[in-house]
Amino acid sequence: MRVLGIETSCDETGVAIYDSDQGLMGHLLHSQAALHAEYGGVVPELASRDHVRKVLPLVRELLGQCGEERIDGVAYTCGPGLVGALLVGAGIGRSLAWARAVPAIGVHHMEGHLLAPLLERSGPAFPFVALLVSGGHTQLVEAQGVGRYHLLGDSLDDAAGEAFDKTAKLLGLPYPGGPELARLALQGDPDRFRFPRPMTDRPGLDFSFSGLKTFALNTLKRGLSEASVEEVQLKADIARAFEEAVVDTLVIKCRRAVRETGIPTLVLAGGVSANRSLRRRIGAMMVEQGGRAFYPRPEFCTDNGAMIAYAGWQRLRAGQAEPLKFGALPRWPLETLPPVTPDPVPGRSGLLYR
Ligand code: KG4
Ligand code: ZN
Repeated sequence: MRVLGIETSCDETGVAIYDSDQGLMGHLLHSQAALHAEYGGVVPELASRDHVRKVLPLVRELLGQCGEERIDGVAYTCGPGLVGALLVGAGIGRSLAWARAVPAIGVHHMEGHLLAPLLERSGPAFPFVALLVSGGHTQLVEAQGVGRYHLLGDSLDDAAGEAFDKTAKLLGLPYPGGPELARLALQGDPDRFRFPRPMTDRPGLDFSFSGLKTFALNTLKRGLSEASVEEVQLKADIARAFEEAVVDTLVIKCRRAVRETGIPTLVLAGGVSANRSLRRRIGAMMVEQGGRAFYPRPEFCTDNGAMIAYAGWQRLRAGQAEPLKFGALPRWPLETLPPVTPDPVPGRSGLLYR
């Protein structure tokens, strides 16, 4: 079965074709970063309009690259995300499926992220614990199968990616801030500042990152008020302390989740899972726990069409499909997804480009 995936939940237009026999046949991504940069964040209306411009040309280009017109189903992100942006992908995806008389499926964006490591040649097997860290979510999920998710912990305020972006902004870094802050942190002195590790001093698996950006702001103000301050180095040191605090907090909570569930497999997914320090520290922690960590390759950590094509295939091949209508769910709890039965088949993993 060959599925076209369309991702338009935020500021990236992603399209991909996943084939259950051949693996991923190709994927294309258009980032709107330059469009939103002058506003310092995503402008929803501009995002929707740009998706309208980009989806169909990208689909055409992708089909051309794959050298075959055939598709057996269409998967599109229908939530959570920006409602206008979601409706573009949903409208185009549903219409394409109708025009080609193939089934369509609306995919949960975070399920896409959660399943992305399964695109890799030696992906994880269920059950696993997943740390989903993106711009909108920080969640620990126990995954027993596709659609069988139990939420272990959630963010009470800013998501980890959001905290990265806001802290980057106050350090004067361009949008999107997360990767920029991580780059600056490489030049920072790890011993100059120590930021708190929020909510690690009490039991539980929830997160709270909004206090860290205030801590960063106060540290910056205090630092700048000192005479003969080296501003660039000060900002790099703050970036380093902030990154270490977020990474350390995530590692502590993941260790707790793995111990509490007794599941020795951890999956890291979502935009922040591209962070090198996080990948390294989580990998080392899982080895120490006698388990193993899995992550998607960096290009599939952030938003992309491949994860939507793959998640859509898992549901379409189990017979799930949408009726002849579409919608979008800007808010959508992961735990309300219908399970896929029987147990998921791994499919042909491995990324094959022809
Ligand atoms: O999954 P994603 O592409 O979009 C959402 O679903 O939100 O995640 C985007 C988030 C942004 O907040 C971005 O700053 C963050 O992931 N991010 C990073 C890195 N790369 C992306 N944060 C820290 N370090 C990175 N290397
Ligand atoms: Zn995402």
